[in-house]
Amino acid sequence: MNKDTLKKAAAEKAVEEIESGMTIGLGTGSTAYFAIIKIAELIKEGRLKNIKAIPTSKQTEELARENNIPLTTFAESSCIDITIDGADEVDRKLNLIKGGGGALLREKVVAQSTKKNIIVVDESKLSENLGDNFFVPVEVLEYALEPEKKFLQELGALVKIRRDIENKIFKTDENNIILDCTFGSINEPADLNKQLNERAGIVGHGLFIELASKVIVASEEKGIFTLENK
Ligand code: 5RP
Repeated sequence: MNKDTLKKAAAEKAVEEIESGMTIGLGTGSTAYFAIIKIAELIKEGRLKNIKAIPTSKQTEELARENNIPLTTFAESSCIDITIDGADEVDRKLNLIKGGGGALLREKVVAQSTKKNIIVVDESKLSENLGDNFFVPVEVLEYALEPEKKFLQELGALVKIRRDIENKIFKTDENNIILDCTFGSINEPADLNKQLNERAGIVGHGLFIELASKVIVASEEKGIFTLENK
């Protein structure tokens, strides 16, 4: 089974939780993509009615528009019922690393405004400790690039400025820069979360602590299973 089949299976399982009349958050990335396409299909068939969606990136907004998903804003709908989003890494406590696709800031804004955050992943995203398999994306103001880079290096990270496919410095939807920080295995992600939150020049980062309500995992051997904090 290829990875896309697993991603699609997890994403479509999550969509089963959406009911007519809900305000939903639309994630970003190749796994969330399958959820968005399924939601669009259900709306088109009339099986989901009165759905309003808030996208987590400009890319997702475009995909939602192309597929005729009605969009709303925080000004119109302050509370989101369910958000379906992907993740780059998930630990045993359901803490996450996100931001591989660069949408971490809006993704966290949406997650913090959502009653039920459903994360959809294939099994390769599960790990013992955050940082075992993925770096932590840190979004910084361009003005603060040098001091924040120095701060992150002093914390022990190997810091790399993210570049796009043309090798230009990658700019986020908010026109900030991303520093991809390899920390190695992170023993206390909540502590690192706090340290990063305290910096003026860091506008967002990919550590999502206690934000996932549940994680739907698609595995080749075990099928689809759900991880939930007790
Ligand atoms: C984008 C994200 C994505 O959810 C994360 O990178 C996972 O993406 P994919 O489903 O393509 O593996 O955080 O900012």
